[in-house]
Amino acid sequence: MAGEARNLKVRIDHVSKVYETRNGPMEALRDVSLDIYENEFICVVGPSGCGKSTLLNIIAGLQAPTSGKAYCSGHEITGTGTERGVVFQQYALFPWLTVKKNVIFALNMRGIKGEQADKMALEYLCKVDLEKFADHFPKELSGGMKQRVAIARAYAADPQVLLMDEPFGALDAQTRTQLQSELLETWEKDQKTCFFITHDVDEAILLAQKVIIMSARPGRIKEIVPVDIPYPRNQETKLTPEFMQLRNHIWEQVYKEYLEVRK
Ligand SMILES: Nc1ncnc2c1ncn2[C@@H]1O[C@H](COP(=O)(O)OP(=O)(O)O)[C@@H](O)[C@H]1O
Ligand SMILES: [Mg+2]
Repeated sequence: MAGEARNLKVRIDHVSKVYETRNGPMEALRDVSLDIYENEFICVVGPSGCGKSTLLNIIAGLQAPTSGKAYCSGHEITGTGTERGVVFQQYALFPWLTVKKNVIFALNMRGIKGEQADKMALEYLCKVDLEKFADHFPKELSGGMKQRVAIARAYAADPQVLLMDEPFGALDAQTRTQLQSELLETWEKDQKTCFFITHDVDEAILLAQKVIIMSARPGRIKEIVPVDIPYPRNQETKLTPEFMQLRNHIWEQVYKEYLEVRK
């Protein structure tokens, strides 16, 4: 883009993934190529089973492609790394640690210790409105609160790339709306590179600069839809004509793929 410095952050280069299963090989991804630039917010939508999580796990370094390669900051991804942080649908918290200690764990991984870690952990918990629950254990919190701790911990790890796999998928509509707003606010401030999977088309348009529509299995990139709605965005953005037009278009495309799955 003219006049805009765009640094490539993640490159997915002709990636395919075949799982060996009891019923033979299962092609999850076919020849997926995608460039993600620094500070970009990308959302991925597509029917269930189309390989969204597989793609995220390949970027996270949790799974290896069968062919093709993935790169982060120019280096081939061969495993997990602190520059890439993951938030899963099910809050992966340490149940034996308090809320604050879950966040401190991430800070310790960055080499931040002692009183400073303590102070910073509280700051990250403030961001998600949970400072009052710092000394509680995960089991004492609701689902939405646990997911907020997971997000605070992911932010505390300060990764360059935030990978989120349907992080709000298991939450009720109200909590989901609140967490979307918090995430938007945080991203508008820090502009981390975000790769966010969702099955909620509205959520994708609200958050992303680009929505990637994936095809039914084997997952391929069907379309990349730019969302040219300026930030700051909020829940009212959903009522604008631009938003509704994008929603109609993306829904139609996703629905076609959903019908493919049912064939
Ligand atoms: N570890 C695995 N072994 C075998 N098959 C898998 C494995 N992980 C995912 N799959 C299959 O690969 C396909 C894509 O899965 P996934 O990436 O989880 O899709 P999505 O996240 O879009 O729902 C699905 O059919 C799923 O059953
Ligand atoms: Mg998934």
